[in-house]
Amino acid sequence: MTGATILHLITMAVLVSAAASQAPPTKYINHTVGDSAGWFFNSTTNTTATNYSSWAGSQTFSLGDYLIFKTSSNQTVIHTYNLTTFRNCSIDDSSSNDTFVYNGGNTVFDQALTIIVPLTIQGPNYFFSDASDGIQCQHGLAFEINVNRGLGLPPSLNQPPPPTYREPPGPDSASPPVTIPAGEEGTGNSGFKKGASVQVIACVCLFALLAVIGGDRGGIF
Ligand SMILES: *[C@@H]1O[C@H](CO)[C@@H](O)[C@H](O)[C@H]1NC(C)=O
Ligand SMILES: *[C@@H]1O[C@H](CO)[C@@H](O)[C@H](O)[C@H]1NC(C)=O
Ligand SMILES: *[C@@H]1O[C@H](CO)[C@@H](O)[C@H](O)[C@H]1NC(C)=O
Ligand SMILES: *[C@@H]1O[C@H](CO)[C@@H](O)[C@H](O)[C@H]1NC(C)=O
Ligand SMILES: *[C@@H]1O[C@H](CO)[C@@H](O)[C@H](O)[C@H]1NC(C)=O
Ligand SMILES: *[C@@H]1O[C@H](CO)[C@@H](O)[C@H](O)[C@H]1NC(C)=O
Ligand SMILES: *[C@@H]1O[C@H](CO)[C@@H](O)[C@H](O)[C@H]1NC(C)=O
Ligand SMILES: *[C@@H]1O[C@H](CO)[C@@H](O)[C@H](O)[C@H]1NC(C)=O
Repeated sequence: MTGATILHLITMAVLVSAAASQAPPTKYINHTVGDSAGWFFNSTTNTTATNYSSWAGSQTFSLGDYLIFKTSSNQTVIHTYNLTTFRNCSIDDSSSNDTFVYNGGNTVFDQALTIIVPLTIQGPNYFFSDASDGIQCQHGLAFEINVNRGLGLPPSLNQPPPPTYREPPGPDSASPPVTIPAGEEGTGNSGFKKGASVQVIACVCLFALLAVIGGDRGGIF
């Protein structure tokens, strides 16, 4: 086959799939948490910089969106899928597979931080600060969101970065540890499942070609 023929076939595939699938409901969005107030807690007054539940209620969240926390090292960002952990305002006894610490272990106060969190799992996602032994969270530095499917995960997020904290491998680790990325819960892109590496490569190549040919069609996957 000539290159032109291949391009023609791909173009037809794009047109067919674009016609068959519905228009994408949204674009990917970056949500700045608390808008201009950022992610802050005043320890003198025990108050948050804004009402984060209200803020969360004003937004629509989808897979592939990012939360941008503009904050300082006086606060932490904990991302959990576990309601018990969220309600407890504590990561004590939490499991490393459902709770991620984005900026634990700070030793210097008042350092400006921007923390970027991708949304990779559909459904309830919970966020809180566990600083000050949970006092910040208990006084409202916490919110929950519901993540919709939206456009589905973009290829760039299909292998999300590993969580910050992990169980160290046990002493009997004769076999290599198996880690399961947080995004692989069946809510992401069905073409990019575990064990489908050939498909992944094919899809990535196709995606790159499509980007070159027709610009971003969004809905093809
Ligand atoms: C959203 O944030 C991500 C991660 O920092 C970045 O790669 C992307 O360019 C941002 N998108 C927009 C529209 O600002
Ligand atoms: C905390 O609140 C007190 C009382 O309103 C105020 O004086 C102080 O400047 C606030 N601290 C910060 C860091 O905003
Ligand atoms: C924050 O807003 C929610 C509604 O979005 C309300 O139920 C709650 O009482 C507010 N919290 C404070 C401390 O005002
Ligand atoms: C950050 O925390 C430190 C230690 O508790 C405190 O001295 C400082 O005032 C805090 N900064 C702000 C802006 O609240
Ligand atoms: C709740 O947090 C406390 C520490 O604040 C911890 O001792 C306890 O084990 C936690 N409980 C659960 C169910 O996570
Ligand atoms: C949530 O975390 C608690 C510990 O904080 C744990 O006991 C419980 O099994 C977890 N729930 C799920 C659904 O994993
Ligand atoms: C975390 O692991 C527990 C078993 O250890 C499992 O029940 C739970 O579904 C896992 N949670 C996630 C989000 O993978
Ligand atoms: C803040 O709230 C905690 C309880 O959550 C309380 O122990 C502490 O005294 C309060 N601090 C101020 C300044 O009100």
